[in-house]
Amino acid sequence: MIKVGIVGATAYTSLELIKILLRHPDVDISYLGTRREGDFKISDIFPVLTNTLDMPCSQMAQDDLPEGLDMVFVTLPPVIAMQYVPTLLNAGTRVVDLSADYRFQKKSIYEKWYKAKHTDPSNLKNAIYGLPEIFREKIRTAKLVANPGCYPTSAIIGLAPLISNGYVYTDDIIVDAKSGISGRGREPTEGTHYCECNENIEAYSVGEHRHMPEIENILSLIGKSESKVYFTPHLIPMNRGILCTTYVKTKKKSSSKEIITLYNDFYSKEPFVRVKKNNELPKTKDVANTNFCEIAIRQVGERVIILSSIDNLIKGAAGQAVQNMNIMYGFKETLGLLF
Ligand SMILES: NC(=O)c1ccc[n+]([C@@H]2O[C@H](COP(=O)([O-])OP(=O)(O)OC[C@H]3O[C@@H](n4cnc5c(N)ncnc54)[C@H](OP(=O)(O)O)[C@@H]3O)[C@@H](O)[C@H]2O)c1
Repeated sequence: MIKVGIVGATAYTSLELIKILLRHPDVDISYLGTRREGDFKISDIFPVLTNTLDMPCSQMAQDDLPEGLDMVFVTLPPVIAMQYVPTLLNAGTRVVDLSADYRFQKKSIYEKWYKAKHTDPSNLKNAIYGLPEIFREKIRTAKLVANPGCYPTSAIIGLAPLISNGYVYTDDIIVDAKSGISGRGREPTEGTHYCECNENIEAYSVGEHRHMPEIENILSLIGKSESKVYFTPHLIPMNRGILCTTYVKTKKKSSSKEIITLYNDFYSKEPFVRVKKNNELPKTKDVANTNFCEIAIRQVGERVIILSSIDNLIKGAAGQAVQNMNIMYGFKETLGLLF
C-alpha cells in the first residue's frame, strides 16, 4: 500500500483522480492539499464524495508540504506547479505533475510559450514525459513524471505509428482538434461561461496554442527528425471529450487496411489504445469516463487522415497520471482504471 497525496485537491482533475484512486487496491489517499483557508472536507467541495471520502483538506504552502508520502499528484496550473514540486522531490516524494511545467526539457521553449521564467530548471532534465505508449521504460524509474497535455495525448497516440515507421512527411502535419469545456479547468472565465459556450463552436489560439510545441517536440523525438504541426483547437459545447482529426502526407501510397494493420501491430500490447476496424470511426461518447484512446485511420489520396478520441480528464489527465503511477510502482497498469 502506498501513501498518495494530491496538491491542488479542488481541481476538476483531482476529483477524477480521487474517484480512480478510491478504486485502487494498493493506494491510500493520505493528503489533500489546497490553497483555501478554513476547515472543510473534500466532500464539501465535491458533494458526490459525501459518505465516500469525507476527508479534511489541508491548507498547503510551497515550502511546507507533508513528508512521508510515497507519491503526489500535482494538479495546479502551469507556473504555479513548479513552485511546489521541488519541496516534494526534496522530501523524497515521487511526483506526477499534471501541469505543463516539466514537459519541455528545453527551458527556453517553455519560457517562450508559457511567458514565464522557469523557476526550477534543475529538475527539468530529470523529468520524464508521461506517455506510457512511448516512454514506458523511462517512466518505471522516474522520480518526476510530466503528465502530457490532453490534446497532445490524443494527437501523439494518433500519429506515433506513422511517424516512428517513417511513413509520412513530418513537416506538414495538420491537427484539427475539438475539446469539451472541462479542458479549460474549473475556474470560470468569460470564454467558458455557459452563455458563451452553449450552442456554439469556436476555434481559439489558432496556430499559437501551447500544446502545439508540445506535440512537435514529442513527435520530433519519436520520428528522430524535426516535426512541424499546424494545430487548431476548438471549444465545443460538451463537458468532456476530445476528438482530433489529423492530416499527414504519405511518402508512399498504401491502403487503409495496410495502415490499420500497422497500427494494430504498434499498439498490440497497449491496454488503453483501441484501433477501430476499417468501417468504424471513434466517438467521444465511446471513451467518456474511461482511460481509452480510440483511433481510426483512412488513406485518402496522398494523405492519411487519423481520427483519435479521448476523455480529456481521464486519458488526457487523471487516468494517464494513475497509469503512470502504476508503472512507477510496478502495479498492474490497469489497476483502478478499468470497471
Ligand atoms: N482540465 C483538463 O482537461 C486538463 C487536462 C490535462 C492537463 N490539465 C492540467 O492539469 C492541471 C489541473 O487542471 P484542472 O483543469 O483540473 O484545473 P482546475 O479545475 O482549474 O483547478 C486548478 C487548481 O489549482 C488551484 N490553484 C489555482 N491557482 C492557484 C494558486 N495560485 N496557488 C495554489 N493553487 C492554485 C485551484 O484552487 P482553487 O480551487 O482554490 O481555485 C484548483 O485546485 C492544470 O495544470 C491543467 O493545465 C488539465
